[in-house]
Amino acid sequence: MVNLVVSSLLTAALIGCGVASPVAERPSTAAAAGASCCKALADVLGSKIASKCSPGYTNSIQSYWAKQETQLSPSCVLLATSADDVSQALRVLVPSSCKFAVRGGGHGPIAGIANIQDGVTIDLSALREITPNGDKTLVSLGPGLNWASVYKKLDALGVSVPGGRDGPVGVGGSTTGGGFGYFAAKAGFTAENVAAYQVVLANGSITTASSQENRDLWMSLKGGSSNFGIVTRFTVRTFPLGQIWGGDSYYPVSSLNAHIKALYDFTAEPDYDVDAGYFLNYAYTASSGPVITNRVAYAKPVVNPPAFRGITSVPGQLQNTTTILSLAEFSNQALLKTPAGYQQLTWSVTFNNNVDMLKDLWNAFNSSISTIKGVYNATWSLTLEPLVPKIASQTKAKGGNVLGLDDIPSEGLILCLLSATWVSANDSPRMNVASDMLLSSIIRIAKSRGVYHRYVDMNHAIKSQDPIDGFGPTNAAFLRQTANRFDPNRVFQTLMPGGFKL
Ligand SMILES: Cc1cc2nc3c(=O)[nH]c(=O)nc-3n(C[C@H](O)[C@H](O)[C@H](O)COP(=O)(O)OP(=O)(O)OC[C@H]3O[C@@H](n4cnc5c(N)ncnc54)[C@H](O)[C@@H]3O)c2cc1C
Ligand SMILES: *[C@@H]1O[C@H](CO)[C@@H](O)[C@H](O)[C@H]1NC(C)=O
Ligand SMILES: *[C@@H]1O[C@H](CO)[C@@H](O)[C@H](O)[C@H]1NC(C)=O
Ligand SMILES: *[C@@H]1O[C@H](CO)[C@@H](O)[C@H](O)[C@H]1NC(C)=O
Ligand SMILES: *[C@@H]1O[C@H](CO)[C@@H](O)[C@H](O)[C@H]1NC(C)=O
Repeated sequence: MVNLVVSSLLTAALIGCGVASPVAERPSTAAAAGASCCKALADVLGSKIASKCSPGYTNSIQSYWAKQETQLSPSCVLLATSADDVSQALRVLVPSSCKFAVRGGGHGPIAGIANIQDGVTIDLSALREITPNGDKTLVSLGPGLNWASVYKKLDALGVSVPGGRDGPVGVGGSTTGGGFGYFAAKAGFTAENVAAYQVVLANGSITTASSQENRDLWMSLKGGSSNFGIVTRFTVRTFPLGQIWGGDSYYPVSSLNAHIKALYDFTAEPDYDVDAGYFLNYAYTASSGPVITNRVAYAKPVVNPPAFRGITSVPGQLQNTTTILSLAEFSNQALLKTPAGYQQLTWSVTFNNNVDMLKDLWNAFNSSISTIKGVYNATWSLTLEPLVPKIASQTKAKGGNVLGLDDIPSEGLILCLLSATWVSANDSPRMNVASDMLLSSIIRIAKSRGVYHRYVDMNHAIKSQDPIDGFGPTNAAFLRQTANRFDPNRVFQTLMPGGFKL
């Protein structure tokens, strides 16, 4: 009992709830504006508006994945249960110029991407429908779902969708930002499989965007994120999928050059097997030191298929977890590896598949370890993901997207992602400096080798990156034109600061 009281007081203190401050403070202008927006919302939406420090509010704020997102205190949270709630909210918020944030699965690793200090957070996490159509070729998904629940439901039906890899990642953010997983070569990015979006526009109207209806909006949502509206339902194409084969393998750093060759060959393979997904990690943890790990996933229950032989034959393997299992089980293994409640940072950079670049990349990574050494329980890793020409074929076959990856060179591209995790906010300045230094040195090396590619994966971009610029000038101009038509007052750029903006 005593512990419960203490922990709820601590919780309250963390999110600025309840505990009276010794000096009464006058609310800031932003806090006063937020409070008045919340009051106006509550008049319309009643108990769906969770006021500061109510149980609904606290649950919502504490369930973000990244620690830094849990430390913002909005003036209230809309616990939306329908598109209509979102529509009514925008009809109140927009005319009064109220600032707001939109939360899908809450997995974004940037403070303020899906939450807001002294504004209104529109929490879509109760929108969790999973409704297949009669012949299971399409499934309607709510933006508040995470991939583990989607895969679980669809596994039982013998179908799947090309979503994110890790089970806890949300459908809303990952799909509007592109969405790249194991089966991109087989089925494409998540976004290009969206046959129809239900979207709430800035003026509160609920509309549909598909190849037939509002085609420009449909195309723009395929990677253009929250710049046009709030998506309340995705109708996604499925593909047949039964059990898969996959797992992680661990190696000493002495096997580095063999892995670089294996990654190069796998990515450049002219007869690429579209059932095969793979990535390589250059990884460091305080407890393991530098290590090489990789993950394979095969869209059929076949142990060690030929597509992976160049990878699985690298000598020196310490351990592996490969097995035949369902995609839901596979996606849930990530829960253990990436638990909630830590400081998080990711960024993304892309370059041509090139052995010398991959070697230089190791050297840059290995030198960067000294910049984070000693940070309590830090993990620091680069994930190298093949972007193969077969992905571009999928993009084309499914009607395109706005990512600017229509022409992938025959040897392929490498999408390189940093993932950094640590415990204490006191270490954040040091981790941020280390991460910026590593990113700029990788960009410098890639440019000097002539292998730099402008694409930045929005789903892993850091705040200072500009993924929309990375889509290329034609796509960026097209997105601006669409936004101008559907949101002429730039509501989603001015009143909604979180996310990557036009
Ligand atoms: C460990 C880890 C693994 C990951 N694995 C993958 C992966 O395999 N593939 C991949 O593509 N990405 C992956 N990601 C990145 C992930 O896709 C992004 O972080 C994504 O933004 C998370 O979506 P969310 O809905 O959970 O996030 P949120 O934090 O809720 O939202 C992220 C952004 O999207 C906006 N948004 C969310 N829902 C909507 C909506 N319905 N309408 C309009 N805007 C919306 C939010 O406003 C916010 O700006 C991974 C991230 C991590 C940390
Ligand atoms: C995984 O490890 C087992 C046991 O050591 C080994 O027999 C198997 O070949 C390994 N599989 C792969 C794909 O590396
Ligand atoms: C990594 O860096 C350390 C320290 O600078 C160095 O001793 C080691 O040889 C490097 N390892 C590799 C494989 O490059
Ligand atoms: C730090 O790492 C150690 C060793 O891996 C682990 O036992 C401990 O729980 C970690 N602490 C936190 C706060 O993550
Ligand atoms: C809302 O905006 C859309 C896109 O600009 C427009 O087509 C529609 O007529 C507007 N609806 C209302 C009720 O103003």
